[in-house]
Amino acid sequence: MIISASSDYRAAAERRLPPFLFHYIDGGAYTEYTMKRNTDDLSGIALRQRVLKNMSSLSLETKLFNETLSMPVALGPVGLTGMYARRGEVQAAKAAAKAGIPFTLSTVSVCPIEEVTPAIDRPMWFQLYVLRDRGFMRNVLERAKAAGCSTLVFTVDMPTPGARYRDAHSGMSGPFAASRRYLQSVQHPSWAWDVGVMGRPHDLGNVSAYLGKPTALEDYIGWLANNFDQSISWKDLEWIRDFWDGPMVIKGILDPEDAKDAVRFGADGIVVSNHGGRQLDGVLSTARAMPAIADAVKGDLTLLADSGIRNGLDVVRMLALGADTVLLGRAFIYALAAHGQQGVENLLTLIANEMRVAMTLTGAKSVQEINRDLLANLQ
Ligand code: FNR
Repeated sequence: MIISASSDYRAAAERRLPPFLFHYIDGGAYTEYTMKRNTDDLSGIALRQRVLKNMSSLSLETKLFNETLSMPVALGPVGLTGMYARRGEVQAAKAAAKAGIPFTLSTVSVCPIEEVTPAIDRPMWFQLYVLRDRGFMRNVLERAKAAGCSTLVFTVDMPTPGARYRDAHSGMSGPFAASRRYLQSVQHPSWAWDVGVMGRPHDLGNVSAYLGKPTALEDYIGWLANNFDQSISWKDLEWIRDFWDGPMVIKGILDPEDAKDAVRFGADGIVVSNHGGRQLDGVLSTARAMPAIADAVKGDLTLLADSGIRNGLDVVRMLALGADTVLLGRAFIYALAAHGQQGVENLLTLIANEMRVAMTLTGAKSVQEINRDLLANLQ
């Protein structure tokens, strides 16, 4: 068991959410081997303890794509966030803005772009999937631009859905899914009341704004199933790069050769990610993949990383391995599902405190000083 705030929030989220949603968040692909390795490998990274270095002043602040971040952390894109708490995307975005870090809105969010951006006083990041429906892609890109989103996070590791068997067991998918989900909702009335599932069809904001009609979970699953696009290549991304004025980040890179292609393509950044172990089970954890990728492209573009980051110590470890900033996924979703905006605010305070402890005891006075010199066991 990993002891951290996020394990407490995870337990609270499990109590509060109907099983189909908890397992959708908590689960990974196939045997969940990669998902487990993400957290285990990161926990196994040993840091050098350093002492007597006058650590009385220390800064977590960092700069990324002309934005100032209070710490090298952003909230990553998580679909269906508004199903884990009422208007969940707005709650999480507000917590991130309060903490001075970016929030990334998923393509498949409950709250549409136009609902979230006015609720916060810093630019939002927007995540886009590669979808067969290019009309939809163009539509959301135009809306994200009009709403003032700063950074585009383009997710490329989902040309096909991962095999997630927990979803079939729990009722998220599989036979009789709709009635199983309904039954679970009735058994979790406080969640259903809060999120609004009992009273009205659950809408997916960005998709319904495009289709011009409400999209309940069923419609969304059907729409997404028809929209995976295996034909995509770097060439297809060119119009998006040319259309988008701000920074463009490619999410889902796990191999140094792909990282080099991203540099050649002209990406401003990459997210080293295996989608939290939700896509191809058996691939490297991001902690294991990061050093070779950093060797290949560090300094050529911004290196973001996610998958398995659960606390402030993990942030320092991932930065020591080569990342410039990390994204949180499940860590903030558990906190949101457990205690809404306040939960995410508390989690971010804890992460900042844990980072300060780790930096004080490794002798790193600033984010720039967190590098490979801090590692005790890089093989
Ligand atoms: C995700 N992730 C994700 N990524 C993305 O680009 N668009 C999306 O809509 C989603 N949706 C999503 C839903 C849920 C429930 C989870 C848990 C994850 C992946 C996410 O951005 C991130 O890569 C992983 O969550 C990182 O792994 P950890 O930190 O959650 O283990």
